[in-house]
Amino acid sequence: RIAGPCSLVIFGVTGDLAKKKLLPAVYDLANRGLLPPSFGLIGFGRREWSNEQFANFVEEHVRERCRTPFNEDTFAQLRKGLRFVTGTFDDADAFTRLSDTVSELDRDLGTRGNHAFYMSVPPRAFPVVSRQLAACGLAHSTEGAWRRVIIEKPFGHDLASAKELDRVVSEVFAPESVFRIDHYLGKETVQNLLALRFANTMFEPIWNANYVSHVQITMAEDMGIGGRAGYYDGIGAARDVIQNHLLQLMALTAMEEPVSFTAADLTAEKTKVLSAIRVPHDLAAHTARGQYAAGWQGSERVVGYLDEKGIDPSSTTETYAAVRLDVDTRRWAGVPFYLRTGKRLGKRVTEIAVVFKRAPHLPFETTATKELGRNAVVIRVQPDEGVTMRFGSKVPGTAMEVRDVSMDFSYGRSFTEASPEAYERLILDVLLGDPPLFPTTREVELSWEILDPIEEFWSTLGQPQPYRAGTWGPEEADAMLARDGHHWRMP
Ligand code: BG6
Repeated sequence: RIAGPCSLVIFGVTGDLAKKKLLPAVYDLANRGLLPPSFGLIGFGRREWSNEQFANFVEEHVRERCRTPFNEDTFAQLRKGLRFVTGTFDDADAFTRLSDTVSELDRDLGTRGNHAFYMSVPPRAFPVVSRQLAACGLAHSTEGAWRRVIIEKPFGHDLASAKELDRVVSEVFAPESVFRIDHYLGKETVQNLLALRFANTMFEPIWNANYVSHVQITMAEDMGIGGRAGYYDGIGAARDVIQNHLLQLMALTAMEEPVSFTAADLTAEKTKVLSAIRVPHDLAAHTARGQYAAGWQGSERVVGYLDEKGIDPSSTTETYAAVRLDVDTRRWAGVPFYLRTGKRLGKRVTEIAVVFKRAPHLPFETTATKELGRNAVVIRVQPDEGVTMRFGSKVPGTAMEVRDVSMDFSYGRSFTEASPEAYERLILDVLLGDPPLFPTTREVELSWEILDPIEEFWSTLGQPQPYRAGTWGPEEADAMLARDGHHWRMP
């Protein structure tokens, strides 16, 4: 799987995402030998940079963040295809210069008219960039040469805006050339979820309402909002990650086996789950939101959300969100899926815990068995990638005491190969024109249909419940599970 001759144009190349993820990912792909010699990388931005200055900028951020060792030869090769175009999105001349640069790469580097455009910009810029690309003739694939567009989330902020966004993008780009990035789908462990479920025989027979009590999907972050106040305030935790990453994880956990791993078959199964998700009637009882207050993150004293730079001190944006969702299918009837996410929580961890029902009968009586937890299969998405199984085991001794133990599979111990970064895989897939890991418009719309009523309900409430930074979220979230007779796992 090596990309053919092509170039990648990044709008928003001086932004955080490009510096931290996209540029290092491109370099790592090159270093792993997955990019062709005829590969161009064009940055588009306001700065008055020469190609040389842009190359220095790329090198600085690649050196800082690349996952494979920095190799001078790889970078020298990549450098040959680095170009910078100065301009703003409303400047038609800048797009003419972009078009000239693209043609120059076709001619001098042999990129053969194949170009991908990465919109690493706020959604409000999508329409103008799309139209400019169309106007300068860069948007349409021609015979033997492809054009693709990569759209970063958020795909709108509710169903109506997502539809509008889609309308604008589809005016310009053919559906098969639009790639919507949800970087969680590019994570190794997320793909392993499919391997675990469908390459084995021991999990699938118990992966249903007969055996499963409930599912907990956690995406916890220890960091705050960093320098992203402008993006985050008014968006909040649920729109930021539940609408996309967590609902995608839920769909992969709950879906039926796809006929094949092609985009169409995978999407068909994910779409069925998303269509079958039921939002609880009593949203006050089955959702929770919180906002971090000052506290400690390890030994560091950190400020509360309302004191973060750029945040309105009366902001009601949630930095923690938890929701209960049900899936109305035979497989999952009566099995709640609890999704939670938050900033400034106890630690950075993402996991999917499938928690099983208790044994219907215990043929021995000990006090310990009363305490006995439930069996669980935990897919550890990050940072300690792997799978844990929790089950009861006899404590050595003469008494029949049973206690919970864990059995672990860890990527680090079982494989020597390092996992590629999610963005590496996804960028490569775009360059190869391989769509299975990209959510479709329908999936995006169904996800907003799930979130919209929750957001609407929350908008009638006042301030989210505060939680101290470094803890596991607001009390409301614990109460929400306790109502159903459960408690959150401590990852
Ligand atoms: C992004 C969110 O999509 O995912 C961020 O906008 C979040 O708020 C990030 O921090 C987390 O990604 P990862 O890969 O570090 O878990």
